[in-house]
Amino acid sequence: MQSRLMLNTFNKLKNKKNNSMTTYNKPVRSVVLGIGSYLPEKIVTNDDLAKIVDTSDEWIRERSGIHQRHIAADDEITSDLAIKAAKRAIKDAGIDGTKIDLIVLATSTPDNTFPATATKVQAALGITDGVAFDVQAVCSGFVFALNTADAMIRCGQANKALVIGAETFSRILDWKDRSTCVLFGDGAGAVVLGAQEGEGTNNDRGILAAKMRSDGKHYDKLYVDGGPSSTQTVGYLRMQGPEVFKHAVKNISSVVLETLDLVHMPISQVDWFVPHQANKRILDGAAKKLKLTRDQVVVTVDRHGNTSAASVPLALDEAVKDGRIKPNDVVLLEAMGGGFTWGAVLLRW
Ligand code: UT7
Repeated sequence: MQSRLMLNTFNKLKNKKNNSMTTYNKPVRSVVLGIGSYLPEKIVTNDDLAKIVDTSDEWIRERSGIHQRHIAADDEITSDLAIKAAKRAIKDAGIDGTKIDLIVLATSTPDNTFPATATKVQAALGITDGVAFDVQAVCSGFVFALNTADAMIRCGQANKALVIGAETFSRILDWKDRSTCVLFGDGAGAVVLGAQEGEGTNNDRGILAAKMRSDGKHYDKLYVDGGPSSTQTVGYLRMQGPEVFKHAVKNISSVVLETLDLVHMPISQVDWFVPHQANKRILDGAAKKLKLTRDQVVVTVDRHGNTSAASVPLALDEAVKDGRIKPNDVVLLEAMGGGFTWGAVLLRW
């Protein structure tokens, strides 16, 4: 109901770009035009990590489902990963990249404290129009960025958006802390969204519903112990793993159901579940609670580890490129991370 109202409110808005005006007479949808991703070349296995901390391949596989992760080269930074993923998404969309008028980049590992890494991507793509900014919601970042871009497209502030999740978490890991350093990896994923007219029903292609949540009372359960204002250092990731685990399945399941409820869609109509890839046990727990089959769940955590804001678009790209996700399929994305933050996006591919 809520999203239907928003669609109706904004369907007459005009979109201005390069002096051309587009008038939408029907509800506007943000449709995915293209997708791309990038993983650094270097692969680090569990056995490699067992050489530097007191751990084992068996423990990591059993507790997290992770077998390996990709780690950025010394001279690779978050914007490098983001630009590669963005170029692949633009090529996949078959559009002129300079026509993109909105870039929302989700990251907690920006190149610099400021400016936004998104502006570096914007310049590298030769875009001089529109706006580019970062979103910081840790592992929920891509879901938050997608929802932000969708809202801007539907209210006529943007026509073509590039939404990116890009991280180099290897730079904020304490490589002496076995409870965290074995869990994360580096990577980037991106989608290009375009404004298209729909009918305002769940049969439309594009984003159908989204929900974002946060609860700051859990701030210190997953955080980085440094920052420009507090310590003037970058700091290292700290996590109360079991505490995060405890909230994960509950929060993920509830936000997924709340999102479906916004458009009165039963979960039986969902074809694919593309969750944030933190821990295979969390994915299994959420899928079971939501009564989704294992075959409906896209899993990359075994090969990518937890790539924070990059994990959802990386998994989505894999499932699109290998032919699982096809046009018109209903796809449910979700994520949860530091803050706590959590959210879901429902879309028809
Ligand atoms: O993306 C943001 C969201 N993040 C998450 O969702 C992560 C959520 N948490 C988790 O995935 C899990 O809690 C972990 C994978 C982080 C940990 O699994 P766990 O089953 O909760 O293990 P634990 O932290 O309770 O540790 C169990 C034991 C401890 O030893 P004692 O105290 O029982 O003797 C740890 O010291 O395992 C020990 N341990 C390890 N042993 C070998 C912790 N890390 C390791 C390690 N290798 N890497």
